[in-house]
Amino acid sequence: MIIERPFSGPWKEIKRQVDALAVKERSYRPPHFEMATSLARAPLIVSRFILLTALFEDLDHQLAKKALGLPEEGFEKNPPAEIKERLKGVKILDPFAGGGSIPLEAIRLGADAVAIDYNPVQWLALKTIEIIQRRRDLINVKVWEELKKRYRRGFGADMKALCNDPQVDKAGVLLKEACRIAKELEEELAQYYPPYDGDEVAHYLWVKQVRCPKCGAWVPLVLDYGLDSKRGVYWRPVYKDGDYEVEITNEDIEGTIREGDGKCPKCGAAISNSYIREKIKGNDRLVLVITKDKKIKSFTPQDR
Ligand SMILES: C[S@@+](CC[C@H](N)C(=O)[O-])C[C@H]1O[C@@H](n2cnc3c(N)ncnc32)[C@H](O)[C@@H]1O
Ligand SMILES: [Zn+2]
Repeated sequence: MIIERPFSGPWKEIKRQVDALAVKERSYRPPHFEMATSLARAPLIVSRFILLTALFEDLDHQLAKKALGLPEEGFEKNPPAEIKERLKGVKILDPFAGGGSIPLEAIRLGADAVAIDYNPVQWLALKTIEIIQRRRDLINVKVWEELKKRYRRGFGADMKALCNDPQVDKAGVLLKEACRIAKELEEELAQYYPPYDGDEVAHYLWVKQVRCPKCGAWVPLVLDYGLDSKRGVYWRPVYKDGDYEVEITNEDIEGTIREGDGKCPKCGAAISNSYIREKIKGNDRLVLVITKDKKIKSFTPQDR
């Protein structure tokens, strides 16, 4: 297999271009990344490279370049017919398929793929790849791409707004069903995520904490207080007697945990790892919420 030998000659340059495209792919997320966010997912270009080099003993590097869409297109380019012809009837088994980059690329290269994963979320993502492959009529990719652009939020989408968009009717039955499931889930789970101070909540920030063995104050156990390092937004505890209130600040103060040991931000006492392990259970505290419109609101103890 080409990939098991040190890369030499033109393969060195191919590998360099694959690496560059992999970095690019990570930054703009190919369409199937939207189905389920899996941070361990292999880039499609890397999966295709692994498959090609594993399956062809005699792969000519010019053909490899074409099949990999080098130097610029990468996964956006469909592999040439010649490759598909040669891989007809070949079966690929991926027993830890995760987000499905390998089986997806195997299918695109013209092979058959069997994908296994014991995580039900990953299973669903894999099943979607399988269904879409057989039933293109289930989704109108153009409409879906438009909706995705409009309603993407972070790793997911604002499903409520997306599903209320009249364009959903044109996006195909798959999205219609996704909206039905999203609505059912919201009805079932909304009670656990109530609005805070009149605003819908997007994120909850909980901390684990212990009481300082010296001064008795509650110590949030955090590596740092960062909320948005790009905008320089942090939180910090402001002590009133033994408890603290949460303040939002632009100052990046030192966290309370380093290599498993703690330090009380109130009196500076060291807190040993064994003490933390013994006392950590059952003291979790919700310190703040981030609302859907990105307001950061500290959560005061009376609210608990
Ligand atoms: C690193 S991920 C695979 C990523 C994948 N190559 C991709 O590009 O998306 C490993 C996957 O193996 C799955 N897994 C771990 N142990 C497993 C087992 N015993 N049986 C099935 N799946 C398993 C995990 O659920 C996880 O999704
Ligand atoms: Zn203390």
